[in-house]
Amino acid sequence: MPSLDSDTRTARGAAIRITGLTHTYPTADGDLTVLHGLDLDVPAGGYLALTGPSGAGKSTFLSLLGGLEPLQGGDIRVDGESLTELSGDALAAYRRQTLGFVFQHYGLVAVLSAQENVELALALSGVDRVARRRRARELLDAVGLLDRAEHRPPALSGGERQRVAIARAMANGPRLLLADEPTGNLDEDAARTVLTLLESLRTSHGCTLLIVTHNPSVAARGEQQRRMVAGRWA
Ligand SMILES: Nc1ncnc2c1ncn2[C@@H]1O[C@H](COP(=O)(O)OP(=O)(O)OP(=O)(O)O)[C@@H](O)[C@H]1O
Ligand SMILES: [Mg+2]
Repeated sequence: MPSLDSDTRTARGAAIRITGLTHTYPTADGDLTVLHGLDLDVPAGGYLALTGPSGAGKSTFLSLLGGLEPLQGGDIRVDGESLTELSGDALAAYRRQTLGFVFQHYGLVAVLSAQENVELALALSGVDRVARRRRARELLDAVGLLDRAEHRPPALSGGERQRVAIARAMANGPRLLLADEPTGNLDEDAARTVLTLLESLRTSHGCTLLIVTHNPSVAARGEQQRRMVAGRWA
């Protein structure tokens, strides 16, 4: 597999320290607390697999770590920097530069080609047109999809879409890669390909990897494993 290291940035994994994390959603029936004071440490370059029953709070947890939901209680520190202290612009920069996020349902733009989907992430970081075209092709090559660069997502298989989503997540050299059930929609072969890809990117790129999964054989591969039940560690 071609390497992604031609990027001038030298990525290294981010260390995560989470303390007393709580989260409450307002609902028509009153407040619903779904995370109850969670602590977690993941070392720089670590690999955590997070499991738990549906509704346990795993996606909420990942959204908070990804800066997609504002923090309400407790703290998340990424390389010592608290997400609570990041302002709007700094939070956007954190999402763009430090993080790569892979969703179960891919989250690709249907009207853009595979290559344009990857280029979009680079454009948002201000990479110029020529460089982002070259970089997007390198990334698609790295996930084994250069020959599908012009396909739009509806003309890709599930496993291929997920690999495009991974190429996009890697576009800006993230130090933290968050994946919410990245193999949830895939058959066994495609799931293995996607998981192997995430793991090899972690190794080659040195990023910290957090995977949420319902699949015990996927979870077993994490260096650290945590199970969440009703917003607490089980
Ligand atoms: N926007 C919201 N408003 C109110 N409640 C919510 C909201 N989002 C999630 N919840 C509730 O929070 C709880 C945790 O949801 P979350 O999506 O984090 O679970 P999960 O562990 O990811 O589940 P799954 O394995 O099914 O994806 C659930 O009970 C859900 O109904
Ligand atoms: Mg979820």
